[in-house]
Amino acid sequence: ADAKQDYIVKDISLAEYGRDEIAIAETEMPGLMALREEYGEAQPLKGARITGSLHMTIQTAVLIETLTALGADVRWATCNIYSTQDHAAAAMAANGVPVFAVKGESLADYWDYVGKIFDWSSDDDADRTANMILDDGGDATMFALWGARIEAGEEMPAPQNAEEIEMQRALKAFVKAKPGYLTKSVKAIKGVSEETTTGVMRLYQIAKQGKLPFPAINVNDSVTKSKFDNLYGCKESLVDAIRRATDVMLAGKVACVAGYGDVGKGSAASLRDGGARVMVTEIDPICALQAAMDGFEVVTMEEAVKRCDIFVTATGNEDVITAEHMKAMKHMAIVCNIGHFDSEIQISALDNYTWKEIKPGTDLVTFPDDKSILVLAKGRLVNLGCATGHPSFVMSSSFTNQTLAQIELFTKADDYKNDVYVLPKHLDEKVAALHLEKLGVTLTQLSQKQADYIGVPQQGPFKPDHYRY
Ligand code: NAI
Repeated sequence: ADAKQDYIVKDISLAEYGRDEIAIAETEMPGLMALREEYGEAQPLKGARITGSLHMTIQTAVLIETLTALGADVRWATCNIYSTQDHAAAAMAANGVPVFAVKGESLADYWDYVGKIFDWSSDDDADRTANMILDDGGDATMFALWGARIEAGEEMPAPQNAEEIEMQRALKAFVKAKPGYLTKSVKAIKGVSEETTTGVMRLYQIAKQGKLPFPAINVNDSVTKSKFDNLYGCKESLVDAIRRATDVMLAGKVACVAGYGDVGKGSAASLRDGGARVMVTEIDPICALQAAMDGFEVVTMEEAVKRCDIFVTATGNEDVITAEHMKAMKHMAIVCNIGHFDSEIQISALDNYTWKEIKPGTDLVTFPDDKSILVLAKGRLVNLGCATGHPSFVMSSSFTNQTLAQIELFTKADDYKNDVYVLPKHLDEKVAALHLEKLGVTLTQLSQKQADYIGVPQQGPFKPDHYRY
């Protein structure tokens, strides 16, 4: 192998296929293409060294090439062991982007790749580090923050699962090989932009403890992210994944969606559109009431396991479907998760039963009484594990927020404290505006008289910050 090779992908010869699909995706990602047009000359990300940890898909390739078109250098890994599209990774590597992502990589490789995206040192500059993080789920941020804490002499808590065992192993190896480097990195990092609900939850917890060493932008809670990607994205990608994984007839089946937040709402709609009758479980009375008034039966998981054929977790919580639940399900029930981590379903509690991999992403698990269930993507997020994630158009909306957040943090870090922020509403509205023309939307203009009457500026922002859409 080439000693200078600075990437790990499945098969570099897939690059042309990847490039062809990237070209198609670009036609569906008007927000990102507009940012290239608007900022290409000014190069606001010149000097940015972005450590990026986000599903290495075709859509992410268009994000990466937007960041580099604006002047950034990036080092990239995926944020889930099953989500990489190998042809997208190959196209990036072929274009000189250091990318470390293979669909189906081991957990050990996953965490070693997180180390690789933080290693910006070179022969002529051993001290060079990242100065930005772009994260999805918080793994990269956790790696850097824990690295600095270990270097300061702190002990990590004992690992609780395979994920944490590999994370701690990779982190300790990194710290041993490059002592002090992650402390230097954390000092140099101007900020992190975080993509998803679960990662944002982790950031708020760290900020609450006063341990956030740089500002963070919560991209998830831009309206044009969570009310679009989490909702309309899952509405398309959930049944796509179940169909590709199982070829099951959806019409007439009874499905259960755990959690009726943004992802749950999209997932329930996805299954209903497929002809399934859908039940919902919730802990929050507001979301339970929404589900009921949207026409879904709201039940407990104990009730659902008796009646449903398909189960989807969408809570961002843990132990939502337990081993006991799965033992009580019907023969050939389909079980999957669309939330960020695999802990929503107690997959490891099934280790002692018989697993048969029907194809990558589809496992038949048989219990001692001969009853079987189908587990998809080994409990990891099913739409990226068994299908190709959300369509490009909705990811354009998410990633336009990501790019604006990176520009904001890189160019105006001093305006922010070490806390978690959302992008201002005028930028949220801008992201939406960039996606209208592609859909043939004609917006109505407020007259000055009307603007005065409802008390908003004629050119927006059109809603107060507390408005919920
Ligand atoms: P959310 O906070 O809007 O919704 C989660 C819902 O689950 C809440 O309404 C909560 O009350 C409910 N819940 C919590 N514990 C529960 C339990 N034990 N039983 C039943 N319901 C429970 O969060 P959002 O945005 O819907 O995200 C959910 C998860 O999906 C997160 O992990 C997020 O990171 C992930 N996500 C996945 C995407 C994908 O493409 N697969 C896209 C976007 C987010």
